[in-house]
Amino acid sequence: MDALVLRRGESSPTLVDRPRPEPAPGEALLRILRVGVDGTDHEVLTGAHGAFPAGDDEMVLGHEAVGVVADPNGTDWATGDVVAPTVRRPPPGGTNDFFERGEPDMAPTDATVECGIDGADGFMAEYVAVPGEFLVEVPPELAAVGFLVEPLSVAEKALDHAFAARSAFDWDPEAALVLGNGSLGLLTIAILDEFDRLYCLGRRDRPDPSIDLVEALGATYVDSRETPVPDIPTVHEPMDLVYEATGYAPHALQSVRALAPNGVAALLGVPEDHREAVDVGEWHREVVLGNRAVVGSVNAGPEHFRTAVDSLAELDESFLEQFVTTVAPVDDFEAAFATDEDVVKTAVEFGSL
Ligand code: NAP
Ligand code: BGC
Ligand code: ZN
Repeated sequence: MDALVLRRGESSPTLVDRPRPEPAPGEALLRILRVGVDGTDHEVLTGAHGAFPAGDDEMVLGHEAVGVVADPNGTDWATGDVVAPTVRRPPPGGTNDFFERGEPDMAPTDATVECGIDGADGFMAEYVAVPGEFLVEVPPELAAVGFLVEPLSVAEKALDHAFAARSAFDWDPEAALVLGNGSLGLLTIAILDEFDRLYCLGRRDRPDPSIDLVEALGATYVDSRETPVPDIPTVHEPMDLVYEATGYAPHALQSVRALAPNGVAALLGVPEDHREAVDVGEWHREVVLGNRAVVGSVNAGPEHFRTAVDSLAELDESFLEQFVTTVAPVDDFEAAFATDEDVVKTAVEFGSL
């Protein structure tokens, strides 16, 4: 079968022939339909994030997948069910409390592997074998966009944790700022409909399809070259929520400068090392005297995947059509890894329903 792998020492995917997996007891065999590509995949390709499976010199790429059950193999799934696999699996040493509690997203990095990212093969293959417990049902009518369940689950978790951090008092948020007009930032704006006013920060010139999407979602585009994050409260307004999805490390500190008192910053980026001199005294004062919160969030739990399926069903078709700019057949997989400015969200297609 076709599989897209990253080989050790290389920084772009290679199409290889691999044997179709035999599902082990407890695993269902999936026929993969589509697998999305995000900023993390590019970080995996450059070696900035992730690791090869222990003892292997290549890893199957891809963690945003939708597939159809080809062989339930004794699991609770049925042939033909459309499903999205979750990303985290127990590490090679065996399971642990986080997985047993159904909270793999809360496992520290040494207590989990991540398919297609960190220590385990991903889903960019015609067939994959997945333990039944790590599959989430997707309505068949959402099969074509089911690869968006995983990134939506990431946004759902971060928002869940950010709101939980403000649950001890009467919080009535109105304004939210998303840092980053990439695939995660745009998907997040699309589900932040409880906010009255939305802003999205990028660094692109118009015309640009991601800016068009920001505005189509009713949000205000903020160009970070004209209005850096700390200036946003004076140029626009202080924000109740700042959601960082740039992976640009200074934004982690600057996000607090954009927050209104009692606001919360959710940090999602996975940055490279970055050193610079900053006044941490001011940062510390703003957090404490303003009752502000900073929440880091990675991955997502099974509940967030289920909420993500509901959110996906509610997204406007016109948004999805504009957002998914590229669905590349596996023979033309390079198109799904392009970083041209007319590309927003991409996926590799391995099959159809
Ligand atoms: P992406 O598509 O590369 O998006 C990043 C966006 O941020 C791009 O649009 C980029 O603009 C913009 N950006 C970067 N630096 C900026 C700056 N200084 N000022 C203004 N805009 C800036 O990546 P993604 O898939 O959306 O993911 C975003 C980040 O979240 C990545 O670091 C990724 O690893 C991380 N992530 C984390 C999780 C998690 O579970 N925590 C899940 C998914 C992704 P240009 O395109 O114009 O350069
Ligand atoms: C994935 C998450 C993963 C995170 C860190 C994200 O792109 O969507 O599932 O936990 O990267 O590796
Ligand atoms: Zn991802």
